[in-house]
Amino acid sequence: MSDINLSADNDYEPGALLEKPKTVTRRAFFWAGWSSFWILVSLWSFSVFRYLVPRVSYEPSSIFKAGRPEEYPLGSVTLIPGRKVWIIREETGFYVMKAVCTHLSCQPQWIEKEQIFKCPCHGGRFRKNGVNFAGPPPKPLERVQVSLGDDGRLFINKDHIVDFASVLKVSASF
Ligand code: FES
Repeated sequence: MSDINLSADNDYEPGALLEKPKTVTRRAFFWAGWSSFWILVSLWSFSVFRYLVPRVSYEPSSIFKAGRPEEYPLGSVTLIPGRKVWIIREETGFYVMKAVCTHLSCQPQWIEKEQIFKCPCHGGRFRKNGVNFAGPPPKPLERVQVSLGDDGRLFINKDHIVDFASVLKVSASF
């Protein structure tokens, strides 16, 4: 049986590693400084970018005024292109529908000759009152709120979906 000589390494000093003072190498210092610099540059660039590109929506407002009732002849279907709504005037009054197909949101076209809306994407068909009668659309076109503003113009709120039978009655003199 052989004895193990633990004191063979004469240079070994217990606790020597723990007592060694921590030093920052020049390379570590360089990389820490360089990283900090780029982090600051990135933050500064981001804040400049945020300043130059303000957080505003360029979408037109969903609440807007259209023309006066007398500007819409009886039986007319008028598309307001920038707002994607149709203003329809009937004997009973006005109603406004979103120009957005209830299938996959394409914009149907009003076909004056046939008095229907046709969707170019998948062939959906809607009657003048918005009721779907052919193709894949699962429900009628949405009606939105229309009222008469203080200045006598039509006031439309696209965010407010109204009942399917909702109609704005106006004086027969218009
Ligand atoms: S999006 Fe109109 S029928 Fe499909």
